[in-house]
Amino acid sequence: MAGGYDPFDPAVIRDPYPHYRWLREQAPCFYNEERDIYVLSRYRDVREALANFEVFSSTEGVGYERRPVPMMIAYDPPEHTRLRRIVAGRFTPRALAQWGERIDQIAGEMVDGIVGAGRVDLVDALAGPLPVQVVAEMMDIPMDRRADFKRWSDNTVEALGGAVDATPEERMQVEMTIVEFAMWFAEVIAERRPGAAEKDDLISLLIRPNEEGEALQDAEIVSFCVLLLVAGNETTTNLIANTAYQLMLDTSQWSKVVEDPALSSSLIEEGLRFDAPIQGFFRNTLSETEVAGTTIPQGAKVMLLYGSANRDPEQFEAPDEFRAERNPIEHIAFGFGPHTCLGAHLARLEARYLVKHLLKKVGRMDLDGEPVRTNNPLLRGMDKLPVRVEPCK
Ligand code: HEM
Repeated sequence: MAGGYDPFDPAVIRDPYPHYRWLREQAPCFYNEERDIYVLSRYRDVREALANFEVFSSTEGVGYERRPVPMMIAYDPPEHTRLRRIVAGRFTPRALAQWGERIDQIAGEMVDGIVGAGRVDLVDALAGPLPVQVVAEMMDIPMDRRADFKRWSDNTVEALGGAVDATPEERMQVEMTIVEFAMWFAEVIAERRPGAAEKDDLISLLIRPNEEGEALQDAEIVSFCVLLLVAGNETTTNLIANTAYQLMLDTSQWSKVVEDPALSSSLIEEGLRFDAPIQGFFRNTLSETEVAGTTIPQGAKVMLLYGSANRDPEQFEAPDEFRAERNPIEHIAFGFGPHTCLGAHLARLEARYLVKHLLKKVGRMDLDGEPVRTNNPLLRGMDKLPVRVEPCK
């Protein structure tokens, strides 16, 4: 592999893993002059940077462009801790147990749908709608705006990636839909506010002052809602689509789970490790620092490659092999440190119920055409995954 790494290069987006190997082996703290970014790729370095928020700050946003936003994902402790405390209790395994039955039902109905259809696009019919429906119900927002949620989410995620190839008109379009998204939530919040004290949905929780009497500003509530809807959607969609794709390429892995359903959790962790739904996010340095012998100046944009860390042979044996039984719980697909994914248990719960229904109802699933990868430098997933499904005999 020739030297260099550019996250926006279409060849890298198609298959980043050989490029990550080059980075880890040849340039573990790589500087891309054209993009003016530093790139960390080894498991140890990425994890250490994620934990060290005093140097590697989130305050200019986690995307490519410097974009400070009033969202906890773009705050450092202690401000970040204050915001996170407000919702953290809702996303623990214990708190989420009350949603188990409903998620089981939604996953079951969606799997019935694909089995009934026979030939479907797995992203359209399952991987896309499942997480949207779950989070929409938790927020108690109507599903009739689902097409808008998808468009808004897609555009927000595109903006995160920097949309470097976009025309000014396309950029404007992206910005406008983000505003549209925020305005819609502002209306929902205003309607919800009078009865918020008695309601149990996530939006009412954000409106109510917490036990210490602290309340969020309106702009913070809107941003929180946008974050919850966006953060949980495309990521979980990617987990489902990437893992399903891998299992269709190597059916022996799915056979292991069919023979031993206790491997379901391990399969999901391996799916997260092998093809991380978020490949990399950014930090900005608050002071000069050194990584792997290279000095990073203060004020630099640093890309932290979760996707590469999860394929580091120093951490994972034969990392380029997908092994359903591996159970690599130390992967960092959900990040690490103060910003570790708030929705990790929810995503796992959705995936577990999904696997349960697939095991029960699907006898065979095969690729039925060329999948289309999402064109995003930060997120790895599928826009299209055509499959043929046969029911269990
Ligand atoms: C497979 C699915 C998912 C993956 C791979 C994933 C991945 C991540 C990662 C890597 C981060 C850390 C960002 C950083 O380091 O700056 C993160 C943060 C976050 N995730 Fe997830 N996520 C998933 C699902 C969800 C779900 C279902 C929700 C909620 C509905 C959610 C909500 C959040 C929030 C609110 C944050 C920000 C946490 C903070 O700043 O403290 N995620 N996620």
